[in-house]
Amino acid sequence: MISPNLYTNFAQHQLPAIELAIHDYLNQSFSDQRQVLMDAMKYAAQNGGKRMRPVLALASFQMYSTDIVAILPFAVAIELLHTYSLIHDDLPAMDNDTMRRGRPTCHIQFGEDIAILAGDTLNTCAFELLANLPFSPELVLDAIRRFALACGVTGMSGGQVLDLKSTHSSATVVETIHRLKTGALIEAGISIPALLAGATPEHLKSLAHFGKELGLLFQIRDDILDVIGGNELGKTPQKDLAQNKLTYCSMYGLEGAKNEMMTCANRALAALSELPMCTDLLASCVSFGLVRDS
Ligand code: IPE
Ligand code: IPE
Ligand code: MG
Ligand code: MG
Ligand code: MG
Repeated sequence: MISPNLYTNFAQHQLPAIELAIHDYLNQSFSDQRQVLMDAMKYAAQNGGKRMRPVLALASFQMYSTDIVAILPFAVAIELLHTYSLIHDDLPAMDNDTMRRGRPTCHIQFGEDIAILAGDTLNTCAFELLANLPFSPELVLDAIRRFALACGVTGMSGGQVLDLKSTHSSATVVETIHRLKTGALIEAGISIPALLAGATPEHLKSLAHFGKELGLLFQIRDDILDVIGGNELGKTPQKDLAQNKLTYCSMYGLEGAKNEMMTCANRALAALSELPMCTDLLASCVSFGLVRDS
């Protein structure tokens, strides 16, 4: 297994541009009550976070194009969409979390009304950013369609409703939940930049397969960290058991969950091996996903 350092060094190098692009996009002021909404959006979006989805977007794009600036708006879009999903995930009606990224959750800080609106608005911001992407109209439309599918009932929202409302637990149910609530967006964050950069359908197929497995791996690690992690998580640990959540740890036990995660890693690397170019950076992200501690 390749070292995670390649990924973490790449991330460290790209993070300033990502942070600046997020900051610039949200840098809008109002002299009326809409400023509270902007403040809540900024609080949630500019508040730490690993930025793994935007970094992955850049990593995927740069396999096909050197024009990294062109994909930055997409990187911002996927991070804002993800931030919206976190704000809503933390609401009392969902996971009822009080800590996120080392600070009080958006609804604790701003109230539920503003937090709901901040999530809604970040969601719309993402699509505005996509609509303005500097690629051909055909490619941009395809990107928006794929992105929407990854966020809606066939993706993140679908996974979230299954997470909240599934009536029985099984290996298949938990796998479906994880693939949808987390895997779909991570897969989109890898496939869409490659699509925009001109990757062939064969390459896109391998990258999509890779992204799906990396996404599942990522959520299994999230489940594991909930069990073994502490305050470095930036969110309240040991919440899944307290809330009786269906996770890979509840389904397989801690060691079983680690084994399942390794199986995902091997499937992800097998998908990468179908590609003719150097894929060390994406392979390194798999290693990072396995060992990350926040
Ligand atoms: C947390 O995502 C929610 C999941 C989908 C597992 P991240 O672990 O990427 O959270 P941030 O963005 O770094 O805070
Ligand atoms: C969240 O899964 C997935 C999405 C936000 C779509 P979790 O509920 O496990 O994420 P955390 O642990 O609160 O970050
Ligand atoms: Mg949740
Ligand atoms: Mg949660
Ligand atoms: Mg979790």
